[in-house]
Amino acid sequence: MKVLGISGSPRKDGNTEVLIMEALEGAKAKGANVEFVSLAGKDIKGCVAHPTCGQAGKCLIDDDMTDIYPKMMEADAIIIGTPIYFGNMTSQTKALLDRTYLLSKMGRKLEGKVGGVIAVGGRAGHELTTACLMDFMTLQGFVLPAGAFAHSMVREIGAARSDEKSMKAARALGERVASLAIKVRT
Ligand SMILES: Cc1cc2nc3c(=O)[nH]c(=O)nc-3n(C[C@H](O)[C@H](O)[C@H](O)COP(=O)(O)O)c2cc1C
Repeated sequence: MKVLGISGSPRKDGNTEVLIMEALEGAKAKGANVEFVSLAGKDIKGCVAHPTCGQAGKCLIDDDMTDIYPKMMEADAIIIGTPIYFGNMTSQTKALLDRTYLLSKMGRKLEGKVGGVIAVGGRAGHELTTACLMDFMTLQGFVLPAGAFAHSMVREIGAARSDEKSMKAARALGERVASLAIKVRT
């Protein structure tokens, strides 16, 4: 059983990355194999809604999503984390979500996967950001555990590491996601 963690922060070693890693530790403790993907420095263009989308069995845009699609399809569960930028997810995260249009056009490839969400910000916007990510997941047919999210109230780079509350919440999310993924598979 595999859990994929995706950080939508443009900052390497940022808080989102720290918390996704901690969630993956929680998933590992429940017996999952884990993989981490950072969107920092990646070239992920916006979806262009091509009328033939899905027919070629691959995205018509050739960028870093080419390597991310198979990881998403292989995973039993996906945890997506994002910093909050002006009250919502980063543009990098949104580009990734929109580009999964391909996977729905290829036959609902994300349906039945377990989902989890991490929202990180120094001030406000956690609720809306989480709601938007969870809405994406339900539209794509994900199954969500009770308490499918973890929130973190930190700003400076790496501050999450010393914030016990954030670390605990992320780890517990990873455990919940992995536990449900095991149940879904059996
Ligand atoms: C452009 C920009 C907009 C931001 N807007 C918000 C916001 O609306 N609410 C908030 O709580 N934090 C906001 N922040 C702070 C980041 O969410 C915060 O620093 C977060 O910890 C960054 O995560 P990272 O370390 O994974 O990149 C903003 C930061 C930037 C650069």
